[in-house]
Amino acid sequence: MFIKLIASFIILLPAVHSAPASDSTSAASVNYKSLSSISQTKLPDLACKLPQNCKVSNITLPLSGVASLSLPEGQVVSSVAVGRGIQNYTCTSGVYVSVGALANLFDVSCLYTLSAGFVDPAALSNLLPKMAFSDVSFPNAGKLSIAMHHQFVTTPGSATPGAISPQFSTSSNKVILSRVAGTNDLTDPASNVQWLQLAALAGQGTLAKSVYRLNTMKGQPPTSCNTEGQHLSVQYASMYWFTK
Ligand SMILES: *[C@@H]1O[C@H](CO)[C@@H](O)[C@H](O)[C@H]1NC(C)=O
Ligand SMILES: *[C@@H]1O[C@H](CO)[C@@H](O)[C@H](O)[C@H]1NC(C)=O
Repeated sequence: MFIKLIASFIILLPAVHSAPASDSTSAASVNYKSLSSISQTKLPDLACKLPQNCKVSNITLPLSGVASLSLPEGQVVSSVAVGRGIQNYTCTSGVYVSVGALANLFDVSCLYTLSAGFVDPAALSNLLPKMAFSDVSFPNAGKLSIAMHHQFVTTPGSATPGAISPQFSTSSNKVILSRVAGTNDLTDPASNVQWLQLAALAGQGTLAKSVYRLNTMKGQPPTSCNTEGQHLSVQYASMYWFTK
């Protein structure tokens, strides 16, 4: 207990002059170079004050330890967003089958630029969906501005009836993608949806070449269902990393 007290005192010291403890949820007091300072704020307070359009091509895509996902040769990170939405399912033959998702994406690229060299991008990627899950509700975005919408659309040119594909769109651009690879969430795969690597379909938008869904928080349905055709929406949050 005593050691823990001293440790927290030491951690707080550098921030004391600029951030009284009672002010820790105010964006003005966030020290972007400290993970603990970032984690003590609320996502809306953190993200709504961030500058936009920071260069992130030198930020490392956090795939270390995620063997089945990879960054294609020549691609670099173009933007980083935290998403908050729902995963939709329909009960089919006793199990919930995925029938798409809807999410609002909030741009946090500049958080990575501001914290570069001080906060591990992987640690930030792990933290933000947890903050989004508790601090933001879907579909309301509160005071955050929605940088992108995520939804599912009919797969262009598909011969399979009912085939759908993930789409990400801004007010001026979009991309429709297909799944390249997926892997179970490392901490709680029963609760958290898979981590994914998606690749842009040819001719279906220039918003990104690849999209990664990482550091997922919730979104998995129950393991079985009884009412055939029953619809279920499960709340989730995750990171979305875009490359070009
Ligand atoms: C998901 O379900 C919600 C209702 O819970 C519905 O409004 C929405 O259109 C559905 N979206 C997709 C992509 O299936
Ligand atoms: C990336 O480049 C910017 C300047 O463009 C710099 O401020 C930042 O520290 C760099 N980040 C890394 C991780 O090297």
